Amino acid sequence: MSTRHNFQTGHAPSWFRPRIVRTFDAPPDSPEHEEREREPERVGRPATVLAEGRTGLHALLKTWDRLAGPIPEDWIRDGLRSLRIDRDALWDCVHFHERTYQRTRIHAGDQYEVLVLCWRPGQGSPIHDHGGSTSGVLVVEGVATEIAFMATACDRLAPSRSQRVHAGAVVVSRARDVRQITNLEPPGTNLVSLHVYSPPLTGHRCYRLSETIFADHDALLDDPPVTRSAPL
Ligand SMILES: [Fe+2]
Repeated sequence: MSTRHNFQTGHAPSWFRPRIVRTFDAPPDSPEHEEREREPERVGRPATVLAEGRTGLHALLKTWDRLAGPIPEDWIRDGLRSLRIDRDALWDCVHFHERTYQRTRIHAGDQYEVLVLCWRPGQGSPIHDHGGSTSGVLVVEGVATEIAFMATACDRLAPSRSQRVHAGAVVVSRARDVRQITNLEPPGTNLVSLHVYSPPLTGHRCYRLSETIFADHDALLDDPPVTRSAPL
């Protein structure tokens, strides 16, 4: 059973260090082990109201760590909604990069991973899906703009909707949902978001502009259509 990397920088508090997820305490060949293996739902859902700050986040991760399979979509949504957490509670996980948004993995196990993403105004993700993972995003500070894309019959992705997601709100994406997340707020308005991926993100895909309806946009500006005259 593996445990992936945890914090990128600095020394994490002891409670936030990588956890080796031990799903079963019973010997592998015992009846108790088999019983537990069949019933991951024995693990309770997180409390409706978790403690504030890191304590609540820690409690939520401890609950999820006990799962023997991926976190169900509604558990991700409910769990993130239950958190009352701000930037100060994540102080040593909040890192910005001036060139692009910064990802900091703060917790990882076999069934899920958790990252803090920090975005300056104007920074955004590529257009992407999540492979076989469910993704949950809690906006901790600022406002995220989520742009969803849909497939079209001409085989190019087109934006289908856009929404502003305020601090405290949660959005959940399923595996093959295609989206882009950006910080489109005014200068000085940073975005900090907490992301859960279950199973951990693998096999996801980023899409080039050439795969969208914007593929020919700049060429169209450089070589605009000719207007013909054809009087009736
Ligand atoms: Fe995403």
